[in-house]
Amino acid sequence: MTTRRQFIRILGLGGAVAALGAGGITWGASRGGMPDSAIAPWQGPTEAVTDPRLRAAATAMLAPNPHNMQSWAIRLQGEDRLSLHVDLTRLLPDTDPFGRQILIGQGTFLELFRMAAAAEGWRAEISLLPQGAFPDARLDGRPVADIRLVRDPSLRPDPLFVHHRQRRSTKEVFDTSRKVSDADLARVAAEAGDGFHFQTTGATAQRQALRDLSQQALVTEIETPRTLKESVDRMRIGPAEVAANPDGIDLLGPMMWWGSRLGFVSKQDILTPGTQSFQIGLDMARDQAQSAMAFGWLVSPDNTRLSQLTAGMRYLRLNLAATAAGVAMHPMSQLLQEYPEMAVLQREFYQAVGIEAPQHVQMLVRFGHAEHPAPSPRRPVHAIVTT
Ligand SMILES: Cc1cc2nc3c(=O)[nH]c(=O)nc-3n(C[C@H](O)[C@H](O)[C@H](O)COP(=O)(O)O)c2cc1C
Repeated sequence: MTTRRQFIRILGLGGAVAALGAGGITWGASRGGMPDSAIAPWQGPTEAVTDPRLRAAATAMLAPNPHNMQSWAIRLQGEDRLSLHVDLTRLLPDTDPFGRQILIGQGTFLELFRMAAAAEGWRAEISLLPQGAFPDARLDGRPVADIRLVRDPSLRPDPLFVHHRQRRSTKEVFDTSRKVSDADLARVAAEAGDGFHFQTTGATAQRQALRDLSQQALVTEIETPRTLKESVDRMRIGPAEVAANPDGIDLLGPMMWWGSRLGFVSKQDILTPGTQSFQIGLDMARDQAQSAMAFGWLVSPDNTRLSQLTAGMRYLRLNLAATAAGVAMHPMSQLLQEYPEMAVLQREFYQAVGIEAPQHVQMLVRFGHAEHPAPSPRRPVHAIVTT
């Protein structure tokens, strides 16, 4: 009998775990074989890190971010200031051609940075886009934010901060026998903040429409060779690859590890229609989407660079609020992505949720309940410090 620990983790196409159990393919939560070094950052900064800017940045790196690319670069200035930049070597040009999602991932970092600094008695004075907004078409090297830390003994920790080490993007299949209560959804939605809305539905008809659209969008990503390749290129297969590159999409678990070592599971297989590995991706799309017990979508008033960045700050709070409520949350971003093959499905999605320009849906997530997954890898803080 196959146990949960023997499952294969396949991430990035949404991520999940598959094993050939008695009933065919099932999905689970194991990250067997995860090297300790890859998840050590979740213990918090070590005592050796004394600069408060680096301590806050180390915690901020635990923020959710697209494909776990950790596209952050920080530049320390003087004694008390730093600037945050996009690491332009860590973009997702095929699924995120304008860098909208990468910018959301800068916002999640900034909000967690602010909370982490406050927890140690520092007020982070954050100035967003100090050299002006990025062009609409692409990100560049200008700062996302300038930050100054100011001692402030009167600061109280943000009540959501206590949940940051338990926060996850829960990519597992959800338990379809467990509903997500309206009260829990309302608790999460309350964090959307000024000017933004977080709309939710657990209602059967709309939920089914969104399950089907999300599944079709994932299938579109998988069946579009260059967008599939973008994910596969960022996969780390087995403990040695994850230890060497604690970022991207980790495929861990004993079976995947042995499979790749024996040559059964290769990136080429995952890319090739007709292989079992390719089919696992399609099955995962179905199982993730069809087990969504509720959906939520974060709506910004417009789609400016400032709104994208702010969406990230709000999203971090939503994700922490879900953690506090004990509800699993998982972004399913495919429908929101700006590449031609997605355009028709995206229009259907906007109609299904009744959103029209200039408003913009910045994040779409599914909710449910699942076993709490292990944390995903992170690089050490010094990896993002640049001069
Ligand atoms: C803007 C944005 C888009 C994301 N889109 C997806 C997605 O489509 N599918 C998915 O499985 N995870 C998605 N994620 C979650 C990331 O994969 C996740 O944050 C990252 O792998 C780190 O894992 P963690 O959040 O559990 O720490 C997204 C996160 C962000 C911030």
